[in-house]
Amino acid sequence: MTPTTAPAATVPPGPADPVDMAAMRADPLAFVTRMNREYGDLTSHVGDGERIYLLHRPDLAKHVLKDNFAHYTKANTPDDAMLRPLLGNGLLTSDGAEWARQRRLCAPAFRRTAVTAFDGIITEETHALLDRWRSAEPGSPLPVDHHLTSLTLAILTRAVLGVDLGAAGEGFGRAVDAANRFMGHYVPDPDPDPQDTVLRRKGYVQARSFLQLVARTVIASRRTTGPAAAGQDTLMDTMIGELDDIDLRDQVLTLIMAGHETTAKALTWTLYLLDQHPAEAALIHAELDEVLAGRTPTAADLPALVHCRRAIEEAMRLYPPVWLISRRATRPDVIGGYEIPAGALVCVSQWVLHRHPDHWERPDDYVPARFADPELPSHLYLPFGGGERTCIGRHFALVEATLVLATLLQSVHLTLEPGFPVEPEALVTLRPKHGMRMTVTPR
Ligand code: HEM
Repeated sequence: MTPTTAPAATVPPGPADPVDMAAMRADPLAFVTRMNREYGDLTSHVGDGERIYLLHRPDLAKHVLKDNFAHYTKANTPDDAMLRPLLGNGLLTSDGAEWARQRRLCAPAFRRTAVTAFDGIITEETHALLDRWRSAEPGSPLPVDHHLTSLTLAILTRAVLGVDLGAAGEGFGRAVDAANRFMGHYVPDPDPDPQDTVLRRKGYVQARSFLQLVARTVIASRRTTGPAAAGQDTLMDTMIGELDDIDLRDQVLTLIMAGHETTAKALTWTLYLLDQHPAEAALIHAELDEVLAGRTPTAADLPALVHCRRAIEEAMRLYPPVWLISRRATRPDVIGGYEIPAGALVCVSQWVLHRHPDHWERPDDYVPARFADPELPSHLYLPFGGGERTCIGRHFALVEATLVLATLLQSVHLTLEPGFPVEPEALVTLRPKHGMRMTVTPR
């Protein structure tokens, strides 16, 4: 018979008593960091009535995400419980043969060469944001994080789905916030009474209806308008004949939710870090002047925009938009010499791996130049995850983030409002807890 718990002698180090999960949820980043510092790279603790394993060494992450990927599932992970009610059975949440089918279907649309075709849409939408900033009252700080969320949403819906959401962007961003806030504070056995839980749940249900309505509208619009312009296949064109309306709705919401919030956060943290590190910003300005000389960037400029690219990569090291990956073992396994029982919850936190002092020099400092030599050990730097289920949108995200950054910094300076508090909050994505209020001035 398969043992349900590993023999005591084989349990990885960790606290003897069950962890206070409410305290853990109040500051998950501090918790995963403390587990690593106090107990090492392979730890275990008991929380929510089960033993949870944390892996914080590249080879251990690779074991779960790549080498032994077939024996780990996303089903019944906390991520799954959070995302499935909203996203149904799309690429992010499905498993096994169904996942493999969806991945095959979607892959061609996300190839590196395919996504560069969207450069015009990316810079056009970014110019629209710049126009909006120009018409704002000079000198008044703006909620840049929200504006970037609207921007990445507008880009994603146009580039991937072939429709323009227009004014829905702002409301959509707010609905995503409400959904994230609820899901980010997801507790497996919530206390049914407290008023704030009830209110948050209500907000979530409303937000979910709104998001599903937007998805249905997008689908209906694509079904009536037919395929996008010749020569520019959208993802919708690839999927529309293969999936029914419910599956398509799940896929649409998956791509929108997985794709825009993450990219917006990567850009938000990058702009923040560049404001804090003027020498790095100066390198980018010099690069933009030299490569672009005032012209709008295109995909052809990407290889030359190395400082822009490194600034983003290093921002995603320090503030990985996705800060934790979780899986469940589908059969007993041995990791790093310890027995892992079938059904065990196994997690890798990018927040810990990306700042691990054994692997990075000056781990907490913003040093984009470290990405000048991109030969990193496998599965050390995981902003897009690793192995078979690595992010399908990674090329899209990097093309988009680089072109948005270049277009913005070509025209404006962004400066954090003096005294504005900035601290990361680990919800579904790693967000600035209080937002990011910045002043925009022409360059
Ligand atoms: C900076 C931006 C982004 C970051 C940091 C990011 C991060 C990630 C990570 C870490 C995973 C793996 C999760 C896991 O293994 O459990 C993932 C998966 C995924 N991402 Fe992204 N992502 C980004 C942008 C995008 C974009 C633009 C899209 C689509 C347009 C997208 C769609 C997806 C999908 C569908 C999956 C699931 C893939 C699968 O399981 O086969 N992401 N992403």
